[in-house]
Amino acid sequence: MNSSDSDWQTWRDLFQGRADRPLLPLDADLDYTQLPRSLAHSLAVFQLGESGGGNVVGQARQSRLPGIDEHYAEALDLFVSEEHRHANQLAVCVRMMGGELLRKNWTARLFVFGRRLIGLRFKILVLLAAEVVGLCFYRLVATRLPPCRIRDTLLQLVGDEHSHLQFHCAFLERQAATPFRRTLFKASWRALMFCAGLVVLIDHRRTLRDLSIEFRDFQDFWSHYRFAAEIHVLGLPRMRSTLRNQTNSAALDKTSDAVSIATPDLT
Ligand SMILES: [Fe+2]
Ligand SMILES: [Fe+2]
Repeated sequence: MNSSDSDWQTWRDLFQGRADRPLLPLDADLDYTQLPRSLAHSLAVFQLGESGGGNVVGQARQSRLPGIDEHYAEALDLFVSEEHRHANQLAVCVRMMGGELLRKNWTARLFVFGRRLIGLRFKILVLLAAEVVGLCFYRLVATRLPPCRIRDTLLQLVGDEHSHLQFHCAFLERQAATPFRRTLFKASWRALMFCAGLVVLIDHRRTLRDLSIEFRDFQDFWSHYRFAAEIHVLGLPRMRSTLRNQTNSAALDKTSDAVSIATPDLT
């Protein structure tokens, strides 16, 4: 995606094109209750997080920020619908695993609080952080599951979240137009990512333990996506970004099972 405003039409068409996908059915003959209970709880937390987000669309429609137009609001509306589809898909997974859906959770409340805190730019920044959280968690969990429809589901979510990450980066790139705003973005993004990482490690520690996901595995994925988002928004010098991508790709290749699933293209 380049930086012209007409690209929002392309994003809208992309989200529109996959809006009618049916939910993936799960294998009726597999006993998903054998999977760790902690995973069912974690997916229920993510299910809750994927359920909200409608307010941001109204705010985008009324916004006078530069770099956005009515197509952006339409694309954002379709993006929110896609997240709701994720919520429905995760609800199926949680039920098949014998877990219970949640009405409230402290990390989901934290996420909603962050989204409502200040203007559209910060809301999108929080949403971008949520994309990194989802990408890391879904992808790491998928590497630890045997071939099954829950794994397929998580990998489909990874593909969607990857385009969401690029969508939000395209918005933030337009907003970070001055040196001051670029510095502000970098500082806010890194602080937010640090806090979000801590929250994930605390809230999902049992799942990470039960699936033998080590801190280093988590850190490799986390750094990978954090830098990818930063590079998308700030466009770091070519040499530096290339070296970072190579370094992070090498780190990802070292994670035992990560090589067995498709790696989203981050360029
Ligand atoms: Fe999602
Ligand atoms: Fe997303």
